[in-house]
Amino acid sequence: MQITPLSPLIGAAVRGVDLGRLDDDTYAQVYRAFLDHQLLVFKDQALSPGKQLEFSRRLGPLDIHVLSQYNHPDHPEIFVLSNEVKNGVPAGIADGGSYWHSDFAFREKPAKATILNAQIIPPEGGNTLFVNMYRAYEDLDAGVRARIEGQQAIHRYRPRQDKTEDSTRVVMNRSQLAQTPDVVHPIVRTHPETGRRALFVHPGMTVEIVGWPEAESRAMLDDLFAHCTQERYQYALQWSPGDVVMWDNRCVMHKATTRNLPAHLTRTIFRTTVLGERPV
Ligand code: SIN
Repeated sequence: MQITPLSPLIGAAVRGVDLGRLDDDTYAQVYRAFLDHQLLVFKDQALSPGKQLEFSRRLGPLDIHVLSQYNHPDHPEIFVLSNEVKNGVPAGIADGGSYWHSDFAFREKPAKATILNAQIIPPEGGNTLFVNMYRAYEDLDAGVRARIEGQQAIHRYRPRQDKTEDSTRVVMNRSQLAQTPDVVHPIVRTHPETGRRALFVHPGMTVEIVGWPEAESRAMLDDLFAHCTQERYQYALQWSPGDVVMWDNRCVMHKATTRNLPAHLTRTIFRTTVLGERPV
């Protein structure tokens, strides 16, 4: 197995491993690399849905996405990201995650890991952007770090109600709305495995700091968002066919760019999401 860093900030490419046939020693090396690099891109894979589920389950229990209309018909734990329309029916969610977020930050127990398995990759476009939130936290000015220490913020699944730039264009039914109430998380969380601290606020989901006057809360969140979305913190992943990508939502924020993909360029990716723990 060869592990090559993708950037000085975040991510590594992994070659020479078949995720469909991982022995325990190789899995342990993969898991160590996941904690060390936060984002892994496994090259030249051919992972069937069944093998994707098998690999994903080694990391923990899988979630079934609340937007069930986009779940794979035979494997509900696979959420289909796709701009393809077959016989008038969308093959998946066309602009899923086209805003800065961490998966399931709108839930009491947000996601630990996300695994994306490339099915159809366009010749250009459809990059996924990533930010290392350990680094974003560590680089904050000491005064800001002191002000947000011990503070909590409200996270909201915004497709519930917004139809803004920071939301996907989906319509949620009553049951989906009932399953996604607002939740509260610490603004800075401690990674349960590495012990490192990471910023845990995301422009597409974090709406308010608990107990702060509205204007102060808005100003602080805007400053934090401007800080962590700076280009110098971003890594833009250009997809290739055969890529399987996995990241740690506890210290990584990401954003899809599929909303900007022209309709004639098809992109289909199968996503599995591993459940995590309540942030502390
Ligand atoms: C996601 O946020 O789950 C989707 C990422 C992507 O499609 O690039």
